[in-house]
Amino acid sequence: MKARLLDGKALAGRIEDTLRDEVQTFAKMVGRPPRLVVVLVGEMAASASYVKSKAAAAARVGIDAEVVRAPVTADTEQLVGLVEALSRDEHGPADGILVQLPLPTHIDTQRVLDAVPAERDVDGFHPENAGLLSQGRPRFVPCTAAGVQRMLIDAGVETAGKHAVIIGRSDIVGKPLALLFAGRGKGGDATVTICHSRSEDLAGICRKADILVAAVGKPGLVTAGMVKPGAAVVDVGINRVADPSAASGSRLVGDVDFASVAEVAGWISPVPGGVGPLTVAMLLANTLLAAELRM
Ligand code: GUN
Repeated sequence: MKARLLDGKALAGRIEDTLRDEVQTFAKMVGRPPRLVVVLVGEMAASASYVKSKAAAAARVGIDAEVVRAPVTADTEQLVGLVEALSRDEHGPADGILVQLPLPTHIDTQRVLDAVPAERDVDGFHPENAGLLSQGRPRFVPCTAAGVQRMLIDAGVETAGKHAVIIGRSDIVGKPLALLFAGRGKGGDATVTICHSRSEDLAGICRKADILVAAVGKPGLVTAGMVKPGAAVVDVGINRVADPSAASGSRLVGDVDFASVAEVAGWISPVPGGVGPLTVAMLLANTLLAAELRM
């Protein structure tokens, strides 16, 4: 392997160490720790697993996290009502409120997300927070996008003047990350291209990238032939694929063909242990920020 590893897990550990002190300072001042409420709807295994990681990480830094479960049969009105009740602190102080996605297909996801007050929106999905980010005065930045930028800054990967190509145009990752890269200052000042399922000559565009981010959820999408030698490749995909040789019968892979791309790229993030732990660390940071802004 030629590329240097973008070790998200190690960086997340260092961020947690700092947050632990800041959380303690907050708790001493206010008389209680910051508190995060996560809404988990239904029994999707992947969502349950992500929520478990978020709660465990919160506990490690001293943030009080509660998971509020709703049955898969809940309708949009009920979920909006639940989020509104949380926002009135009926389940205890809720500095941060996060609705784990995806929601069941019969739910109007946008309506549920819009019920989360902007000042408690630690996911950064509220239109007010999206607007603030687009205007270059970010408050809550979507956690995965913030994590990718942080990872590159930490590794010393230059973005200023460089060409960043993002595959994926989601509100959760692609769009906010494009705004971060295009914004002014550290981790920004890049020239940004967003690619998606309708993009022509995806491989050709990717080959021009100094920084290439894959965020679509397609295993093996990015191959060595799509990567400029020396480029930084960040893999946001988390896909479970069958693997008869694994004890569980499956394993996690990203959107990047790691083995071949690692021979061409200058930097590469692994899956697991790359962007995932940073997403969680950024959520903890947003929760502390929400608690501080409230005081
Ligand atoms: N599902 C996958 N990623 C995310 C995320 O960043 N936030 C929430 N709430 N759900 C997700």
